[in-house]
Amino acid sequence: MTVSSRRIPVIIDTDPGVDDVLAILLALASPELDIRAIIVTFGNTDVEAAYLNILRLHKALALQFEQDPKSRARFSNFTPGSQIILAKGANGPLEGELLSAEYFHGRDGLGDIDKGHPDLNVDTKDPGAYPMLQFADKPGEDVALDIISTEPVKSISYIILGPMTSFARLMRKHGDTVRDRLGQVICMGGALDVPGNSSAVAEFNFFADPFAVKEIFEPVSPVQGFPLERFLLVPLDTTTPHEITFPYYKEHIDPTFENTTRPSDPSQKAPLLHFTSAFLERTREVMIMFGKDAMELHDIVAVWCAIENPPPSDEELAQAGPLPVLKGRWGAVRRKFQVERLGEITRGMLVVDRREGEGAYDPGVNRAAVQAELEMHGFHSSGALESTAVPAQVELETAPELEKKPLTVGVPVVNVTPGPAALLRTLTERVWGVVA
Ligand SMILES: *[C@@H]1O[C@H](CO)[C@@H](O)[C@H](O)[C@H]1NC(C)=O
Ligand SMILES: *[C@@H]1O[C@H](CO)[C@@H](O)[C@H](O)[C@H]1NC(C)=O
Repeated sequence: MTVSSRRIPVIIDTDPGVDDVLAILLALASPELDIRAIIVTFGNTDVEAAYLNILRLHKALALQFEQDPKSRARFSNFTPGSQIILAKGANGPLEGELLSAEYFHGRDGLGDIDKGHPDLNVDTKDPGAYPMLQFADKPGEDVALDIISTEPVKSISYIILGPMTSFARLMRKHGDTVRDRLGQVICMGGALDVPGNSSAVAEFNFFADPFAVKEIFEPVSPVQGFPLERFLLVPLDTTTPHEITFPYYKEHIDPTFENTTRPSDPSQKAPLLHFTSAFLERTREVMIMFGKDAMELHDIVAVWCAIENPPPSDEELAQAGPLPVLKGRWGAVRRKFQVERLGEITRGMLVVDRREGEGAYDPGVNRAAVQAELEMHGFHSSGALESTAVPAQVELETAPELEKKPLTVGVPVVNVTPGPAALLRTLTERVWGVVA
């Protein structure tokens, strides 16, 4: 990766559970980024517990710097000279039931390290203990507004690693400014063509607040959405193949790592390593129950995408037309879908209109082409029910050329990354300073 002369100012909107904390560590160790604020929301756990996890991370890094001053250089984003604003965002979804993922991340969001590793607990009464942070006295969306209003126009990336609630609140309150000035949104969430990870059909972040997702992607007047050409969705489909196996972690990063039956011993290792091993111990046990000895790097992929893809300029967008603008080996396509909010068993599911896909009705006639043909003759196909009216066999007068045109609508979805090996290398080098 090459460091461009200008660092990308970013706001990280997160519900710090296990993969979020690793993602934040990667961001802190990435000189391409200039982290201006961290907005903590509900999600993996509640806001208060999530907030404490940022303080734990601060404590671990501060101890690390004390014991090994050289490691400061790796975390160029974490210095008293450029404090990161820490704010609280939403503590529940816009509407609907509050559901969390404590079964996976633990009550404290970090595999219950508060019990297994009391040495990692923090003193919240002493703000002087956190020189790298500036504690906000206003809600997350107002903190975001201040930053978006003062940084150069379209220079900021807003990275969403948790439910979209705080961003939806930001759009409700300050939509005009955000539309005019925010450079891009990169959001981890959703499952399009793969099973969900919170239910059979839903990815956790979208499951946690499908109302916010709907409001951003399908705004209804007077609420207006965010311009989608400046939005990149990083769904479970793309993130899941990226993982760190625990045998790899043990071999290259922490040779004493096992699980909660042999807890990490702070007297044996550097503070940062102790911190990551402490919260990964239980994750390992949970993942083994799920059938693999590895952790998936969902949120980490989103941060990586932000590192390598600065916000596009207006010129780049104009040149690209409807296609998303990505750098290097990254790729994206536009996808059309709707989010289910109230389903009895499908909350947070992304309902993809597969009538439009290639080979949607294989074997046999392609009904998507038929649909397009009907549309050309004035039959609108935006409703949910009309396809049943389409006859199974229709002679088309024209070849289905429409199919080959790039979609001009839909959400830009990242579907190509530089690959799992490249991410693992980047993460290992940057966060732990190990060249594997
Ligand atoms: C599901 O995906 C989200 C990605 O945001 C992740 O934070 C969460 O840990 C995942 N849960 C499981 C059970 O894999
Ligand atoms: C913890 O690790 C030990 C040693 O590898 C193993 O025998 C045990 O089954 C593991 N426990 C869990 C809960 O995974």
